[in-house]
Amino acid sequence: MKVTLSVIKADIGGYVGHSHMHPKVLDVASESLDGAKADGLILDFKVLYCGDDLELIMTHTKGEEDPDIHKLAWDTFIRCTELAKKLKLYGAGQDLLADAFSGNVKGMGPGVAEMEIEERKSEPVIIFMADKTSPGAWNLPLFRIFADPFCTAGLVIDPSMHDGFVFDVLDVIENVKIEMSCPEEMYDLLVFLGAPARYMVRGVYRKRDNEVAAKASVQRLNLMAGRYVGKDDPVLIVRAQSGFPAVGEVLEPFSFPHLVEGWMRGSHHGPFMPVSFKYATPSRFDGPPRVIAAGFQLNEGMLVGPVDMFDDPSFDYARQKALEVTEYMRRHGPFEPHRLSLEEMEYTTMPQVMKKLQDRFKKL
Ligand code: 13P
Ligand code: 13P
Ligand code: MG
Ligand code: MG
Repeated sequence: MKVTLSVIKADIGGYVGHSHMHPKVLDVASESLDGAKADGLILDFKVLYCGDDLELIMTHTKGEEDPDIHKLAWDTFIRCTELAKKLKLYGAGQDLLADAFSGNVKGMGPGVAEMEIEERKSEPVIIFMADKTSPGAWNLPLFRIFADPFCTAGLVIDPSMHDGFVFDVLDVIENVKIEMSCPEEMYDLLVFLGAPARYMVRGVYRKRDNEVAAKASVQRLNLMAGRYVGKDDPVLIVRAQSGFPAVGEVLEPFSFPHLVEGWMRGSHHGPFMPVSFKYATPSRFDGPPRVIAAGFQLNEGMLVGPVDMFDDPSFDYARQKALEVTEYMRRHGPFEPHRLSLEEMEYTTMPQVMKKLQDRFKKL
């Protein structure tokens, strides 16, 4: 059976500040998707949140970038925004950049990760959802999951993935993409993946048969809007087992809380902390950046789950390490590299401060 898994997300208003989701907003989103399920537009859905980001997880048979599915997500975000405005939640409608829907939510503010797949005999998928960071945060874990044999034992010992994987990488500045094949082009690939503010993995494919293995949301709100309108907190879908990395290989890279950009005012580097659903409430300096992992078994398009994959003591050490790094980075205050580089700050209100001071600079 061919099934499309669509994860579409937006920040439609935070509670309190940018930290959390109001429970009534979740109810409105569920009601909206429940109606679409009753009408037969979608097969199944789950509404989750990470920090102030509302995550719509939907299954259907209409393929990727379907106007009806995207309209459903857009209308749901609009309904949630109306409630957020009524409740005076913070930044109501923050990620909805357009006034009217025009066929596809891409470029309108929300983040989108979608994959159409032929459901296998058993179809485990992990959906990662993050707050206070950007899609470049997935570069390091995706490299480790699909190209690093010290993470994924299957690259060495499983004949069905021994050929490796192909990475589809986006350059958000030039708006071009490149496909690179691992392991042969690993060193070339790392030239780009190591610069996650500019180059971001859009998807990963199994080389043997070009089967989709992972899809990420790569919208860049700050570049799209031409000014800072909030970080584009990203989502990622990864398929697991039977020719793909095992669930534990998919989760393994998150045992290292690597530095990502985001955090306070979207302008700082901080550790990417894996947490259970109930701790997806970034509060210290609006962070540190968080990631949750929802595990599902697809069954004829039904979303059996979620299992809260980081709700496990084996990630306690990563969380402890993230707290140590939080402390260390915070001690830098307004200094780089805690604060992002000036280039990256171009999309904040910083240029206005610089402009105000420009006449004060005297030639030597
Ligand atoms: P089980 O023996 O529990 O099925 O595990 C197999 C496996 O590959 C774990 O990574
Ligand atoms: P969000 O991108 O999660 O809305 O956070 C914005 C912010 O400014 C946090 O300090
Ligand atoms: Mg927000
Ligand atoms: Mg957010």
